[in-house]
Amino acid sequence: MELASAHLHKGQVPWVGLLLTASLLPSLSPPTTGQVTVEAVRPNVAEGENVLLLVHNLPRTLRAIYWYRGTTAGERNEIARFITASNKIILGPAHSDREIIYNNGSLFFQGVTKNDEGAYALDMLFQNFDHTLMPVQFNVHAKKQ
Ligand SMILES: *[C@@H]1O[C@H](CO)[C@@H](O)[C@H](O)[C@H]1NC(C)=O
Repeated sequence: MELASAHLHKGQVPWVGLLLTASLLPSLSPPTTGQVTVEAVRPNVAEGENVLLLVHNLPRTLRAIYWYRGTTAGERNEIARFITASNKIILGPAHSDREIIYNNGSLFFQGVTKNDEGAYALDMLFQNFDHTLMPVQFNVHAKKQ
């Protein structure tokens, strides 16, 4: 009996080693979402100008990035997605041919209209299939005559 339990204890030593190794590799720990921010550059523009929805500190271990029109994730308001593993962009039904999604997560609007004004949401899909929605918005005013 005593011999068996001594064996078990010895068997646990490599475990400690494994845990230490894992904690030294940042890519194995879940990404911190607190540092991610989304910013409209610029948040107030005239019709016809460009807007970049800039994502700061995008986690590197995402499965995919989605951009939605509005503040909720819905199939019909998807503008585009970027699938990280396949490096692939897929356009959604809310895409207007004037938006470009970049692999760093940012979304570019070329020549905004009054109709583009409002809220948008970045949706990050993590490796464990958790989602985090990050809202952002911009205003569009009429061009001065
Ligand atoms: C993402 O890429 C776009 C286009 O190259 C660039 O304008 C933007 O600054 C980049 N964003 C970040 C956070 O690096």
